[in-house]
Amino acid sequence: MANPLLVAVFSYLPSFRLLLIFVSVFLIVKTVLQKKSYTNLPPGPWGLPVIGATFRLGANPGRSLYELSRKYGKIFSIKIGPRLTMVINDVELVKEAYGKKADATSARELYPLNWMDTSGALISCSGSDVKPLRRFLLRSLRDFGLGKKSSELLIMEEAQHLCRGLAQTDGRSFDPRDLIQMAVANIICTLCFGQRFDYTSSEFNQLITSLQAVSHVSGFTIARDFPLLFLAPRYKAFREGGALLRKMMDDIMNQHKLTFDPQSPRDVTDKLYQETTSSAGKNQFSFGDDRVFRTMIDLFGAGADTTSTVLQFAIWHMALNPKVQNKVLIEILTKVGIKTPPEMADRARLPYTYATINEVLRMNHPVPVNLLHRATDAFDLAGYTIPKDAEMIAPMWSMHMDPDVWENPEKFDPERFLTPDGLSVTLPDGFIPFSSGSRMCLGENLARTELFLFFATIMQHFTFHLPPGAIPSHSGYFGFFLWFPNQFKIEATPNF
Ligand code: HEM
Repeated sequence: MANPLLVAVFSYLPSFRLLLIFVSVFLIVKTVLQKKSYTNLPPGPWGLPVIGATFRLGANPGRSLYELSRKYGKIFSIKIGPRLTMVINDVELVKEAYGKKADATSARELYPLNWMDTSGALISCSGSDVKPLRRFLLRSLRDFGLGKKSSELLIMEEAQHLCRGLAQTDGRSFDPRDLIQMAVANIICTLCFGQRFDYTSSEFNQLITSLQAVSHVSGFTIARDFPLLFLAPRYKAFREGGALLRKMMDDIMNQHKLTFDPQSPRDVTDKLYQETTSSAGKNQFSFGDDRVFRTMIDLFGAGADTTSTVLQFAIWHMALNPKVQNKVLIEILTKVGIKTPPEMADRARLPYTYATINEVLRMNHPVPVNLLHRATDAFDLAGYTIPKDAEMIAPMWSMHMDPDVWENPEKFDPERFLTPDGLSVTLPDGFIPFSSGSRMCLGENLARTELFLFFATIMQHFTFHLPPGAIPSHSGYFGFFLWFPNQFKIEATPNF
């Protein structure tokens, strides 16, 4: 006898099919009409209703957008999910859009972060708070040493801790990811929370693991528009990591609050508490101390993930390019020696070393598609009209791997950053790893100092090799926004 449930389903099938056809036609007509309602849009590839052209981004959105730019030009439009997005692939246009036309292009909302309450304070923040908050944080970071000798000494000291950690591997092959990430994270933790962690601390290891669980998951482009997808099993680690990260940050913040003295702030967190709890009318922000926590998660995430990713790629490139590695080592040994640790004043005397870290950043940018911006007003760019509420991205990959700008861009070649006499570094105008304009990287100064000091110090102490049988490749994968190296093992041999 037929199952009554199946009978019921089959009896509804014709009307279900009709509904499906109706919905599909509706969505196609809506998409076509919507596109027609825009005038003078940049050209771009077609997309499907609802999911847009997201399927064109693939596993490596940086490269895919670059390939589309070869077809559609320096600026093109594409639907990412249901959102109309302008892809700007030219440094001059990025400077115009994010710099000269910043009044119309400075908004940013990264919904999943807002929903998860892991952000929404700075990175994912629009409106009147952006400018004063950026100014406030930069000033506070400076007050606690950024750009001064004290932060340089902090990084130099941490680089020695990192070298001790590398020495403990005793020539065995190991995955450098956690060690490097802990060293880099300690800098932002000291500046923001007044706290350095030992690499063996289980609390610190958990903090790093939960950050990785959030930032290494891919699928942001789809999941942000279909938030129910976050309930899917593939996002389990993301949800759990996010919850743990929040809890741990909450604990750090609560401890801070208990000992907070408004008369003598100890770090950036205290400075922000001091401002957001100041008497009525004196707080320059639209939010109170409830958002200090979210701002700090932003700084921790942005500060701990990016620089450490570039340093991991740097080690990988060194193992793949022994001649470059040898030149870096010889330069450091002849100009700095083995006894004194490299410092920022040495950067001018170590052009090849400095050029090498820039070449790693060019080829393996940690934010290859950059962060999104949103247009709060319509504006003109390159003869096109960018409509209000369109999103914008300026992919680093397209700009830093463009063969019209960079000769042989797929080749790892630090010399491209050297002057013809090889005595100094020139960073060309087409190189904007920290983006440009009103929302450009807040941590540029810190990141540049970290990259140089950590890289020069570990290169002074160690030579890196691939373990026997390892397959030489330096490809990576796209996480939540960032590009990470595929996990790899390496051997570190002490230089002396
Ligand atoms: C190699 C290291 C780094 C690179 C390549 C990098 C790159 C970037 C890029 C491309 C953006 C987006 C800019 C835009 O939307 O136009 C950004 C934003 C940001 N970065 Fe970095 N970054 C690095 C390190 C850091 C560090 C160490 C910090 C720590 C303070 C930091 C804090 C931020 C913040 C807070 C934002 C958001 C700014 C805003 O929304 O207004 N970054 N970064």
